[in-house]
Amino acid sequence: MTQSISSKLQSLLDEADRIKKQIHQETLSQQELEQKYFGKKGLFTVLSKQITSIPKNDKPQAGKVINHLKQDLQDFIEELSTYSSDPLTQQAKIDLTLPGKNPIIGHLHPISQAINQISGIFEKIGFIRVRYPEVDWDWYAFTSLNMPSNHPARDEWETFFVDQPPHHKKGKMVLTPHTSNGQVREMERVGEPPIRMINIARCYRRQQDVTHTQMFHQFEGLVIDKGITIQHLKGTIDYFAQQFYGPGSKSRIRPFHFKFTEPSFEVDFSCHICEGTGYITNPDNSQQRTKCRFCKSGWHEVGGAGMVHPNVLKAGGIDPSKYTGFAFGWGIERTYTLKEGLNIDDIRLLYSSKLNFLHQF
Ligand code: PHE
Repeated sequence: MTQSISSKLQSLLDEADRIKKQIHQETLSQQELEQKYFGKKGLFTVLSKQITSIPKNDKPQAGKVINHLKQDLQDFIEELSTYSSDPLTQQAKIDLTLPGKNPIIGHLHPISQAINQISGIFEKIGFIRVRYPEVDWDWYAFTSLNMPSNHPARDEWETFFVDQPPHHKKGKMVLTPHTSNGQVREMERVGEPPIRMINIARCYRRQQDVTHTQMFHQFEGLVIDKGITIQHLKGTIDYFAQQFYGPGSKSRIRPFHFKFTEPSFEVDFSCHICEGTGYITNPDNSQQRTKCRFCKSGWHEVGGAGMVHPNVLKAGGIDPSKYTGFAFGWGIERTYTLKEGLNIDDIRLLYSSKLNFLHQF
């Protein structure tokens, strides 16, 4: 019977693993090990020849495993020389002045790093970091945000509804599709303004493709006080752009529509690769410029913002004749990948647990 594609690769992987473990048990000399593993009929030599029989699709992975194995075996054999029995040679071989080898240590997931940085930026200007339920009532996610029950605006958020009996007042249970559910919850928590909230949470939408994951993160800002205007909103967005993307970064707001803000905007940040111009100038010839391939237009859209709608203030028990406020909500994955200049072909990689991808951050 012919072996299937994956089983050939699998047996190569198993054998590589076995050889790697075996060398650590050996008591042979360096020379004998060279012979046993890299000689004409050596264990490694024989294994590496198997690559010719691996199907084309699996070859890159097989090649990688073989290369790693070779490196591991060579490192092991080379290190043996450090432990020679002759104290003189030993002294000669160990160079104590060389820097040590760093052990591999883990680090926070890039999105956790971004969350820490973003909360730090807003905490510096007096925002309080809060968290609200990620499984919440329709009331907080939609109705209190000026979307009467059954208003089709719910469709824009591709919502997951939880199969639970609805609350008699707050309606169905949903996986929060945005962090805006924290707006009215924060008004209820604080009671009387001022409010300066930064709500960071996981969000869920029925969308999965190269630019969307069903679970992602948003951060939501909400400021309510006497005399809050669009200028405060724009100033806060500009402050964030400069802190997160660097001193030269600018922001831009464009008219848009959300039920819970009036007026509403979409927010763009200037591209830090072409500095918002949309073009890259050839460093050797300033007359020559090409379109920036990262942004194409000089700007990147990150999310929504606006002045809190009076109906939303009322839903949170705040008097709209006394107070005004602004709110914004942006995706963390998007905001972060723009900063790193990452043209990630497939955003799902962020949550794939692939260490060779995550180690890069
Ligand atoms: N919640 C909106 C979204 O997810 C973004 C937003 C937040 C817009 C706050 C305005 C104010 O699309």
